[in-house]
Amino acid sequence: MLNGEHGEIIERMMRLLVRLADIYNADKMIPIGSAQIAGVSYKSIGDPGLEFLEDMAGKGAKVRVLSYLNPAGMDMMQWRALGFSEDFAKKQIRIMDAFQKMGIVVSATCTPYLAGNLPRYREHIAWSESSAVSFANSVIGARTNREGGPSALAAAICGITPNYGLHLDENREPNVLVNVEAKLEYQSDYGALGYTVGKLVKNKIPFFRGIPDNVDTDQLKSLGAAMAASGAVALYHVENVTPDADKVNKNGLEKITITDEDLKETYEKLNTGEDPDIIIIGCPHASIREIRRIADKLQGKKVRKPLWICTSRVIRDLAEKIGLLDVIEKAGANIVADTCMVVAPIEKMGYKTTAVNSGKAANYLPGFCKQNVVFQNIDELVRRAMQ
Ligand code: F3S
Repeated sequence: MLNGEHGEIIERMMRLLVRLADIYNADKMIPIGSAQIAGVSYKSIGDPGLEFLEDMAGKGAKVRVLSYLNPAGMDMMQWRALGFSEDFAKKQIRIMDAFQKMGIVVSATCTPYLAGNLPRYREHIAWSESSAVSFANSVIGARTNREGGPSALAAAICGITPNYGLHLDENREPNVLVNVEAKLEYQSDYGALGYTVGKLVKNKIPFFRGIPDNVDTDQLKSLGAAMAASGAVALYHVENVTPDADKVNKNGLEKITITDEDLKETYEKLNTGEDPDIIIIGCPHASIREIRRIADKLQGKKVRKPLWICTSRVIRDLAEKIGLLDVIEKAGANIVADTCMVVAPIEKMGYKTTAVNSGKAANYLPGFCKQNVVFQNIDELVRRAMQ
């Protein structure tokens, strides 16, 4: 591959992987089961990114493993109705066409594991979206580093990745013990916990004690997403819950304790706005269980402010088939697919204050989208949407 025997594109991509392997002292390349590629929204990659992807696709680049995309900058079907501009849409469509030409499943989502790209325990993968990386490593027990968009694309095209970092068992041991004394009820509480811990531990590997055994995967994805955003946590363990928690060494770790007071402070810190002009749920992209819960709350009611529920197209289609989309649309809300509040250009669509129940979104919205943020639990958000 490196000698160009498989063509120019593979040689270029392989060179990138070898360079990474050299930097991180990897002993070998390992085959991967799947890839997930970030750098999809036109808002993030702009014209240089678009040209790069069209050049790659034009030269015949093809992926060798199951590969999915991170959220794009707009809903690929309903963009006009939701108020996205024609100019933005044209460029975003060209980006998706280039990815499709390369054989990538243009399912644009940060929860690929809910939409058909589910790795197995201990499988090596090359994923880039930080919340998906955290979920795959921690909850599923797959193995991935937090790839950049280009390195994930290179891994997808070559079918391999350098063997270093979180691919190695010895680098997956925890180095900080987090005692959770705070009461966790809503998904936003898990986001607040993740935000708080991420700030404290940065890129360490936390071992959580005190998270209820019946925590669900939606709550875990909120926890991991926020920790990856406020810190750079790519793997965590939860006692009695995550698959490697029993096997890792918990002795002699640095200890921190998180109380109700800590979470209250985080809520206060993340709330920078008061009266939202849009409410957006689904960071990380909503599961069908979350959509059902929201539909139950909206049943027979009417929202007075825009309310978006972001998810993948696969989950949106499922919600449509089982009647949830109908309930949500009758209430005046939308299920928005393929994109999210952070990678969509919401600041250019006239929104100034966005309400969310996600610690990750609350972390990024001020910087990426120039938004004031209302960060609250789902019941509060639905109440605000009715006001
Ligand atoms: Fe996903 Fe966007 Fe949140 S990519 S994790 S919904 S910021």
